[in-house]
Amino acid sequence: ATVRYEAESSPAVCNGTIDTNHAGYSGSGFCNSNNAVGASAQFTVNASSAGTATLAIRYAHGGTDTRSANILVNGATVQSASAFAATGGWTAWSTKTVTIPVNTGSNTVRLEATAAAGLANIDYVELTDGGTAQTGPIM
Ligand code: GCU
Ligand code: CA
Repeated sequence: ATVRYEAESSPAVCNGTIDTNHAGYSGSGFCNSNNAVGASAQFTVNASSAGTATLAIRYAHGGTDTRSANILVNGATVQSASAFAATGGWTAWSTKTVTIPVNTGSNTVRLEATAAAGLANIDYVELTDGGTAQTGPIM
């Protein structure tokens, strides 16, 4: 199943401000992170089974600088300095998809900026679970 988690909705945490000044976002706003290395957007996502899942991150990056982020799942870095390509405008929203490991149940997914300008504007993440099952006993 695919479930959407908005950046402005608790338990998500935006290390910055929830803004509404660039149209096209889903829900009631997006996370405009602080302009700093380490600025973050954190989500709590649910997976029905352990293994790998697909995480789609909707974002906009209207600048020309390089925005990249470490992606941490349950505190462990699973992608280092993953690039969020420029989208051509702050109202031009794109989706970046990554594969992440998940545990059954609740997982934290954290984007942490690796560049001084902070993160791209983050609208939401969508987790699609039921990917590759972990090796285990056949029941
Ligand atoms: C502009 C834009 C913000 C964006 C910021 C940035 O100020 O309006 O939405 O977050 O640039 O460069 O991070
Ligand atoms: Ca910003």
